[in-house]
Amino acid sequence: MTEHPFLLYDPTVYAVRQHYEIVFFTQEPGAAWVLVEGRRYTDQMCGVVRSDTCSHHVCIPTEALDRAGGYTVCYALIPERHSYFPKTEQIFTAEYPFRALPDGEIHVYMLADTHSHVEEPVAVSRYFGEAPDLLILGGDNGNTASNPDSVLTMTKLASAITHGTIPVIYMRGNHDTRGAYAEHLPEYVGTDRGNTFFPFRLGRLWGVVLDAGEDKTDDHAEYGDIADYTAFREEQTEMLREIPQQGTGQERLTESGTPVRLALCHIPFQVIETPFPEVFDRWTAELNRIGIDLMLSGHCHRLDYVEAGTVTHGTVTPEFPVAIGSRIDRKDLSSYAGTALIIGQDSVTVRYTDMEMRVLDEHIVRLKR
Ligand SMILES: [Fe+2]
Repeated sequence: MTEHPFLLYDPTVYAVRQHYEIVFFTQEPGAAWVLVEGRRYTDQMCGVVRSDTCSHHVCIPTEALDRAGGYTVCYALIPERHSYFPKTEQIFTAEYPFRALPDGEIHVYMLADTHSHVEEPVAVSRYFGEAPDLLILGGDNGNTASNPDSVLTMTKLASAITHGTIPVIYMRGNHDTRGAYAEHLPEYVGTDRGNTFFPFRLGRLWGVVLDAGEDKTDDHAEYGDIADYTAFREEQTEMLREIPQQGTGQERLTESGTPVRLALCHIPFQVIETPFPEVFDRWTAELNRIGIDLMLSGHCHRLDYVEAGTVTHGTVTPEFPVAIGSRIDRKDLSSYAGTALIIGQDSVTVRYTDMEMRVLDEHIVRLKR
């Protein structure tokens, strides 16, 4: 998965808000940093460079890495972290090229509901031949979060597809919340200081990642009293209220074409019957106000496309289509299918594709102006 012996896998460059969080795992604990155009960005906690971990996170402003077109991962063993005059051993380095989102046509691939499978989803993601411009991990990528190997599925997929050279966006699925390692998930993926919901911006691509948590009430017997998503969902309502609507705010600064606004949420809450529709009504109302062009989801294990204006389980009708874009049959993994997006100047083409590179269905979304 990597040619660099001090790393477990090639890094993953997660897009979060207006920075990249580069996540990589070293074979042994030690200090780590990333060099971009000669500037050193460390894996640090409140100014203290972390050395007692194999899981490293380094944040770099989007503009800095986009401009540089590459970065160097650096790692040093610290045999004894003395309070005074600690010494590092030999420094290991690994260089990676990096490709920012293009100004013209943008190719995106989304893999959701991979449920710890890697080989078939990686094959499906080859739809564009080379790596896409952006990889979206759409949740339920591990089967459960019961052990490190399962939580590492996101890394395995991203490493095999991107080799650390393109951006990745991760949205958490409800299966990613289950098991002993669920609370450690932010050590394994890019998040907004531990939160699995955040806005993001990549070139003319804007959007928001939402996390619906589980699909039943917190007191459901299935969760055994260890689910608490009520306040968590309301925090996301507040976040949505702070996002400017289409055509206002910073996004007017884009010079590379019509802005594209995506909402990403593993559970397509508009089309799933839930016990808390009033929460999702608020989310849908905010997404309508923001001017979302397209929402991407998984969860249902089937391919579906809900047109804008379709009446749903809530009382607020979404003014944007919802692409439910993953198909998995655990008895026949060769039938796995994901979603390709071709983002043009005025439209987004949504294509559901399989391992044979066949287009199973296609929809065109006209961008709002
Ligand atoms: Fe799933």
